[in-house]
Amino acid sequence: MTSTDTAADGVASFPAAGERACTIQTTVNGVRVERALDPRMTLVEFLREDLELTGTKVSCGLQVCGVCTVLVDDQPVSSCTYLAADVDGRAVRTVEGLAREGALNGLQRSFAEEFALQCGFCTPGFLMMATALLERDPDPTEETIREYLDGNFCRCTGYQPIVAAVRRAAARKAGEAGGEPS
Ligand code: FES
Ligand code: FES
Repeated sequence: MTSTDTAADGVASFPAAGERACTIQTTVNGVRVERALDPRMTLVEFLREDLELTGTKVSCGLQVCGVCTVLVDDQPVSSCTYLAADVDGRAVRTVEGLAREGALNGLQRSFAEEFALQCGFCTPGFLMMATALLERDPDPTEETIREYLDGNFCRCTGYQPIVAAVRRAAARKAGEAGGEPS
């Protein structure tokens, strides 16, 4: 990351609000991105406003609800409080990166098949958190799923179909690995 912050007479000077005073290089869903930005910009602002990737939602803005979850170097983070400048040199994955050539992936299809969404506002966060879980544990128990998704809130579907969708996605993946079509 490069910054235009300067110090004069030993006193740090900070860029004005909105001033795009630092430049980052990152990859977002496999695409290399270089941008100048305000060092105070949050990652969700960067994704939604600069890159027009509006699949990631924002609600509480306080790292409480999980709606804004994306993956940075495969780790789930709350993009509402994560600084965009901190993805310099890192790889970001958002919900837009899950589908392949326009086709929903197995996890997304499982959410649809289990009716694990209604308004869908919380769904991108659940999908990204579940993606991280299944990459760590391809066959999680129901208890593990509930614990892992504990920080993601849904206010209209209820959690049972969401847990079932993650279980279905795990079974689907195992079937694919065993050569059975899903
Ligand atoms: S909007 Fe980021 S955790 Fe709620
Ligand atoms: S589907 Fe509406 S808040 Fe979860």
